Amino acid sequence: MTSQLFSPLALRELTLANRVVVPPLCQHCSDNGVATDWHMQHLPSLAISGAGLVVFEMTDVEPEGRITPYCAGLWNDAQEAALARVIASCRKYGAAKLGIQIAHAGRKASCDVTWKGGKFLEPHEGGWQTIAPSAIPFGDGHGTPRAMTPKDFDRVLDGFVSATRRAARLGFDSCEMHGAHGYLLSSFFSPLSNRREDQYGGSIENRMRFPLQVFRAMREVWPAAKPLGVRLSCVDWVEGGTTIEDTVIFAKALKAAGCDFICCSSGGIVSIVPPLLRANYQVQFAERVRREAGIATRAVGMIFTGKQAEAIVAEGRADMVAVGRGYIDDPRWAWHAGDELGVIAPFASPTHTARNANWIKHKLEASKTAP
Ligand SMILES: Cc1cc2nc3c(=O)[nH]c(=O)nc-3n(C[C@H](O)[C@H](O)[C@H](O)COP(=O)(O)O)c2cc1C
Repeated sequence: MTSQLFSPLALRELTLANRVVVPPLCQHCSDNGVATDWHMQHLPSLAISGAGLVVFEMTDVEPEGRITPYCAGLWNDAQEAALARVIASCRKYGAAKLGIQIAHAGRKASCDVTWKGGKFLEPHEGGWQTIAPSAIPFGDGHGTPRAMTPKDFDRVLDGFVSATRRAARLGFDSCEMHGAHGYLLSSFFSPLSNRREDQYGGSIENRMRFPLQVFRAMREVWPAAKPLGVRLSCVDWVEGGTTIEDTVIFAKALKAAGCDFICCSSGGIVSIVPPLLRANYQVQFAERVRREAGIATRAVGMIFTGKQAEAIVAEGRADMVAVGRGYIDDPRWAWHAGDELGVIAPFASPTHTARNANWIKHKLEASKTAP
């Protein structure tokens, strides 16, 4: 079968072998922002998984930009050196191209890890003062962020630029700015979290201003031959919040600033579960942004099967498909999606015995007939 999911995609001078993407997945396993042995097994195993692109987790530009004290960072040499080691291992056996997401958690920073409940950490518990466009807490139990001052704007902008420079030096193939999920840059865009009365708040032009400044500054230091994208929360799922119409305007402005793709996520500005939480629930946003802003998009969110992913790409609803929890559950997701579609996905040489067409045929036959 000819598969669109397993067809190559060119973004600037980068060619992805296929449209399957492992999206950024926070691991909360870093030590002062430095990648650890966890990353040495987690990321290389994804790099040999058959995906066209593996995006390294949300990597923060300053200590106060971390969701938890264990998040990844890229503001110092030790963090850069540790990532170089992980990348070398990914490249040694893996065929996947490697991306990184650069971020600041804003008012959602200073929390405990999710598996311990994720509660807000006060300074005496190892937490810190958070920052945001306005001094509005994320929710009950969260600290009140400091409304950003001119010094904060300069420092955060410099942090994004410096982390992007380091990512370029590390040789990442693709880079993306985190503009989603209620973290700092998305909290500028959403009218629910941005109540500023200066040039950074109010109209949509003003709410886009800081994220666009950051994006342009990143684009200046990120290699012209390589793609730079943005992840957006396309809707807030709340009355008075970001709408898909707002997002199309934002995507057009980002495209004009040199953005190569938008990863279309949603929510996170308030702790409300989206009403439409079901398979493909965010694909509509990727489809609309792609059509109306004329930019490549990545669909993400509850995409489970190879056939489901194939249909999204084949029907022109998105250019790439990201699979998050599906990949945690099955770190060879692309292999198995390929099996469903009759395509042999890329694999590393030492795993060739399991990627033999004859063995796959027997496996599929057995799965139909086994008691
Ligand atoms: C454990 C975990 C960590 C995540 N970390 C990030 C992250 O670092 N950056 C980000 O933008 N989204 C993050 N997400 C969201 C995923 O990238 C993805 O958008 C989401 O899980 C929906 O896709 P899925 O239904 O295929 O899992 C995370 C999700 C999970 C489950």
